[in-house]
Amino acid sequence: MEKKEMLYEGKAKQLFATEVTDQLIVHFKDDATAFNGQKKGQIKEKGKINNKITNFFFKLLEAEGIKTHLIRELNQTDSLVKKVKIIPLEVVMRNLAAGSLAKRIGFTEGKLLRQPVIEFYYKDDQLGDPLINISHIELLKLAEHQELEKLIALSHKINYILSKFLKARKIDLVDFKLEFGKTASGEIILADEITPDTCRFWDSQTKEKLDKDRFRRDLGNVEAAYQEMYQRITGQKWQ
Ligand code: TMP
Repeated sequence: MEKKEMLYEGKAKQLFATEVTDQLIVHFKDDATAFNGQKKGQIKEKGKINNKITNFFFKLLEAEGIKTHLIRELNQTDSLVKKVKIIPLEVVMRNLAAGSLAKRIGFTEGKLLRQPVIEFYYKDDQLGDPLINISHIELLKLAEHQELEKLIALSHKINYILSKFLKARKIDLVDFKLEFGKTASGEIILADEITPDTCRFWDSQTKEKLDKDRFRRDLGNVEAAYQEMYQRITGQKWQ
């Protein structure tokens, strides 16, 4: 599959056109940012690891009946995906208090939430991706009512599948972010990525952080954490 012009460049990925109109190539970069781009850096081999971890999770979810944009992996850092119109929402699911939730409602990091918490952030760099509610989503016409219901149900199902899978690998799925897209025929499918950039993964026993918080909070051993997550998830040694 030939890479044609670059259609979009985000903080951690690039999207390219292909010779097929409804198929795109996603390229995962080693670049890392935090705090809406204020902190910048690189995480060695992150592109490869995130491409492979995303594809592993997307295949796992497909096997459980969740539709995703993945068509196939093309090489270490690139995958072929279905073209979708991204719904400009970051859907965050949380099982334990951490990060912005801990700050917002005054829970200590690591407190088990009685039930999973779902949040929506409006994908708008200029506004700094603010937290919004269902009423705001309807006002801004970001998604129709039934689309939103589907998106919420899918997010809960994904949380259940991933939490169970990771628990068996001695990882707590603390929280994570999802993005959904709409196909030309109007179907809502999972898009974007599921990686240590977009999830909080803690070792179940030691509570060691094995995700991008190591970069955000300058905790060191960032690369080693990404490699460890690759190994825990796929059961294979990293190279
Ligand atoms: P938060 O606690 O900072 O709101 O983050 C919640 C989860 O969402 C965490 O797993 C990291 C992920 N996330 C992203 O993927 N992209 C973002 O821009 C932010 C702020 C968080």
